[in-house]
Amino acid sequence: MTLARRELFTRTGLALAAGAIASSAGSTGAAAQSIAAPSSAQGSSDDWNAVRAQFALSDDFIHMSAMLISSHPRLIREAIDEHRRGMDANPVTYLHLNNHRLQETARTAAGQYLGVNGSDIALTDSTTMGVALVYNGLRLTPDHEILTTEQDFYVTHEALRLASKRTGVKVRKISLYQQINGITEGQIVDRISQSITPATRVLALTWVHSSNGLKHPLRRIADAQDRINADRDEADRVIFCVDGVHGFGIEDVVMADLGCDFLMAGCHKWLFGPRGTGIVAGTKRGWDAVLPTIPSFIDGGTWEAWFTGSEPAGPNTGSRMTPGGYKAFEHQWALTQAFGFHQSIGKARLAARTHELARQLKEELARMSHVALYTPHSDRLSAGIVSFDVQGLAPSAAVTRLRERRIIASVAPYAVPHVRLAPCLVNTPREVEAVLQQIRGLAA
Ligand SMILES: Cc1ncc(COP(=O)(O)O)c(C=O)c1O
Repeated sequence: MTLARRELFTRTGLALAAGAIASSAGSTGAAAQSIAAPSSAQGSSDDWNAVRAQFALSDDFIHMSAMLISSHPRLIREAIDEHRRGMDANPVTYLHLNNHRLQETARTAAGQYLGVNGSDIALTDSTTMGVALVYNGLRLTPDHEILTTEQDFYVTHEALRLASKRTGVKVRKISLYQQINGITEGQIVDRISQSITPATRVLALTWVHSSNGLKHPLRRIADAQDRINADRDEADRVIFCVDGVHGFGIEDVVMADLGCDFLMAGCHKWLFGPRGTGIVAGTKRGWDAVLPTIPSFIDGGTWEAWFTGSEPAGPNTGSRMTPGGYKAFEHQWALTQAFGFHQSIGKARLAARTHELARQLKEELARMSHVALYTPHSDRLSAGIVSFDVQGLAPSAAVTRLRERRIIASVAPYAVPHVRLAPCLVNTPREVEAVLQQIRGLAA
């Protein structure tokens, strides 16, 4: 490892993940060193081109779809390939030799990324699985209420509906705003905190809405909730749960900056992690409020209790909440490399880059008279999703027209759909301009 690389790894706190990368899969250690880390504040275009070169993405398209499903960078492809070869050659011995260590390494890397202990991370398959495990694991009764918003996504609403069927807990949906244009952080915080009642035991929100790109001021919401909790007994305190998938992998924050008790996120979108991976990060208050649903294979305490026919001792943890069962282990094991990939570029640089590209899009879209832009301009109220409508075109028709012009956009799967573009680390300002040029051409 060159000195510059070593300094970068140390500075970004990646020493552990780098070691894990090197030791978990020999050849991927070399791949880790080949990622160009942008050297200036946000990196030169050569640096970002080198990042893009890590992906096998087709050059026939401009890919603005990070919010859906990731392409794996080289580091991850190589780690997965190496594990797959090991499993295909000797499935039982490879699994027994590596599984515990590699899952723990992945949890530690996720913990480092979020500034928490690896033991407070549960490994899941997706955001959806994490959301379902948390909401359906909450110890709630018909006297309790879960507060959420009408603007939240299907995954949250459906998991809450099922939790309500199971436990009788009431689910109350408030409308966060009538009009997204002009919305402020203060309005969001007031609307939510004023809607919390004595029965509210859970606040279920989404960090960044995938319909319109609105990012919630989580820390300010948590602060308001802390003031409410200060007057409550521990058993009555509000648990703050967040579907964080569209902020995770973009924003340069750790759990303490967010203030929530649970963050559920897939790692196969903005993090560019292995497809079919996700995490739940929880606080002690969070873990104490839920029960696992799927038996864990990595929690020694639950195995021991089963052997002896007793109740598992000790508190609920991220290990206990990690669903067991045999799975596509090679993907889960390569999660360490996903965090390593991000950390080696730098969370702050990635955040700045994503916001810069999204800002470029928004500023120009706002100037087009045939476009209605919904995503707020402010970096504090938005992340990487840019959402809009094109006058005279249904969102799906606009997406089809863009696809014909070799641009990958998507339609929000909500009752009121919009067109979405999701610029990210694989895109360049030139690509953004090329996309804008095509949208200008959609004017009736
Ligand atoms: C807000 C939100 N939550 C969850 C999901 C589903 O994520 P996953 O594929 O990781 O389950 C999506 C979109 O795919 C989403 O937009």
